[in-house]
Formats: sequence, C-alpha cells, structure tokens
Amino acid sequence: MKIAVGSDHAGYELKEKIETHLIEQEKDIEDYGTNGNSSVDYPDFAVAVAEAVSKSKIDRGILVCGTGIGMSIAANKFPNVRAALCYDVYSAEMSRKHNNANILVLAGRVLDSDVALKMVDAWLKTEFEGGRHKNRLDKISEIEKKFMKGAK
Ligand code: RB5
Repeated sequence: MKIAVGSDHAGYELKEKIETHLIEQEKDIEDYGTNGNSSVDYPDFAVAVAEAVSKSKIDRGILVCGTGIGMSIAANKFPNVRAALCYDVYSAEMSRKHNNANILVLAGRVLDSDVALKMVDAWLKTEFEGGRHKNRLDKISEIEKKFMKGAK
C-alpha cells in the first residue's frame, strides 16, 4: 500500500512524527510536504495528496493541518476522494469500516501525538465493511458523477 503524507506548517511536526512512525513499520511512504515550520497555505498540500488519491497514483493519504478542517474541505473537492477528519481512534476506525475513507485528516494543534499515531495505525489496518455502507457510498459516487469532472 502506497501512502502519501502532507501537511501545512501547523501540521508539520505531527506529519513528521507520523512519517517516522510509518517508516519504522517499513510502510511505503511519499512525503508531499511541507518541509518546515514556515507559514504555507494548506490547500496546496491538500491538492497534491488528494489529486494523487483521486487518480489512483497512491492508495491512501494522510493530511495534517491545525484543526484538520481546511485540509478536509479542500481534499473532498476531488472525485473519488473520501477524506475523513477524525479526532479519536474510534472515529478513525469507523471512517474505514463505514465510509471507506481513503484520506485521514488530523488536527496537529489539537491531537496528542501518541493518540494520533494510534489513530493512524487503526486507520491503516481497518477494512471497509461494505454491505449497506457500500450502498450509501454508491449514492455519494452518483453525486460525484452528476457534479464533478473525472468521477468514476
Ligand atoms: C493555519 O493557521 C490553520 O488555519 C490551518 O492549519 C488549518 O487549521 C485550517 O483549517
């Protein structure tokens, strides 16, 4: 599984911790920036990761900004992207089980980093349950087909 990580300055430190954590687990990681604490604009990094997920160049994305809100708004503008802003292990797991989330969005200024790493681990190992949840996601795909270019 190829995983892209991206953040703005407010998510930079947590993004680095997540990347180190995943490299220790020998995961296949691509870092889409940012690469320091200087102020940047979160949509630039959301676009990079979300476009790669949208076009199936990578399997999963992890985005971090201060609250996670801006990243999730921007990432969900892309067809085939299901970006989930999660604040605990339960919501991270449920975003996979029920929503088949392909981008996990985290809040660098809110989350304790140990909790965030547990969320990442849970999110990566939890499978989509399908069934009735697939029917619901199919309805979202219909919305994409109607309103978004490039939707499958
Ligand atoms: C940056 O100051 C902050 O606005 C950003 O990281 C994020 O929280 C936006 O939603």
